[in-house]
Amino acid sequence: MSTAQSGIFALGSPSHAYLEFDLQRGKDAGALIKAMADVREPRTTVGGVNFVSGFRPELWRNVVPDGVPTDLTGFNHNLTGPDAYEMPGTQHDAVLWLSGSSYDVVFDEARQAINALTVVTTIADEASGWPYRRYRDLTGFVDGTKNPSLLRAADVALIAEGKPGAGGTILLLQQWEHDVTAWESLSEQTQERVIGRTKTDSIELDPQPPDSHVHQTDQEVFGNVFRRNMPYGTVTSHGTMFVGFCCEQRPLQAMLESMVGLKDGVRDGLTRYTRPLTGAYYFIPAVEAIRRFATLAEAD
Ligand code: HEM
Repeated sequence: MSTAQSGIFALGSPSHAYLEFDLQRGKDAGALIKAMADVREPRTTVGGVNFVSGFRPELWRNVVPDGVPTDLTGFNHNLTGPDAYEMPGTQHDAVLWLSGSSYDVVFDEARQAINALTVVTTIADEASGWPYRRYRDLTGFVDGTKNPSLLRAADVALIAEGKPGAGGTILLLQQWEHDVTAWESLSEQTQERVIGRTKTDSIELDPQPPDSHVHQTDQEVFGNVFRRNMPYGTVTSHGTMFVGFCCEQRPLQAMLESMVGLKDGVRDGLTRYTRPLTGAYYFIPAVEAIRRFATLAEAD
């Protein structure tokens, strides 16, 4: 039986750091996995931090050939729609997502992790996340309404026992910058047609506009995913960190293809007000799969 990294499901943490790393030239993929396996959360019952660590699928496959879904690939090419709208592929070698109860602990732990990994990696990208008005993203809409509950999330996100990479999951991490001026110039009713839900209560529109975000990512069409999105950024430059998990890559990729208009020629209305700056897929191994690379003993 494989154990999932618990931070994937640790809802409610208000402070987040997303760190992406590149393997230094000439360094060995196994050394990166070992270094990551030795990064540990602080031993405290108070103000702890959740770590979720993952790897570029091809890098993990190099070291553990049978330990990852055979068809899983990184976000190795830009995804371009029929009207040339582009989602950039900015794949890196490893990811560490930290979440905790306050930003000071997340900040300290993120710095320590970067220091510990500095022998084999360079930091390639970072963002910090924080919740907005309890459960809204920075469009002002409730984000996560159609998520599976925690009773079902593991079935949606985790690779089943007996399959390559069992107990692991596939993460799509994509940083979306919002065009706040353009978004705020829309009436509430127009914003609701873009999302496909009402703003105040998150009630699904019926009928759905064909270019609404909800229609373009409809899980009844593409399959279910488990989202842990968070607002990120500063007052003048901000957006949504899309953090989506699935036991297969296809639903996530099919949603992206639909959003750029490759499915039926209709582009997701939300892409007219938000722009992806990054895009990467990571394999998030089960705890046991990472633990066997650890070299540091547990503290007494
Ligand atoms: C700027 C980026 C994004 C924002 C602000 C955003 C926001 C939202 C909001 C407000 C909803 C409606 C409430 C809900 O069910 O959660 C929603 C639904 C959803 N979004 Fe996004 N989203 C973004 C990007 C993405 C991306 C990149 C994907 C997929 C790769 C995605 C997948 C979904 C799915 C699966 C749903 C539920 C659809 C259904 O009703 O079955 N979203 N999103």
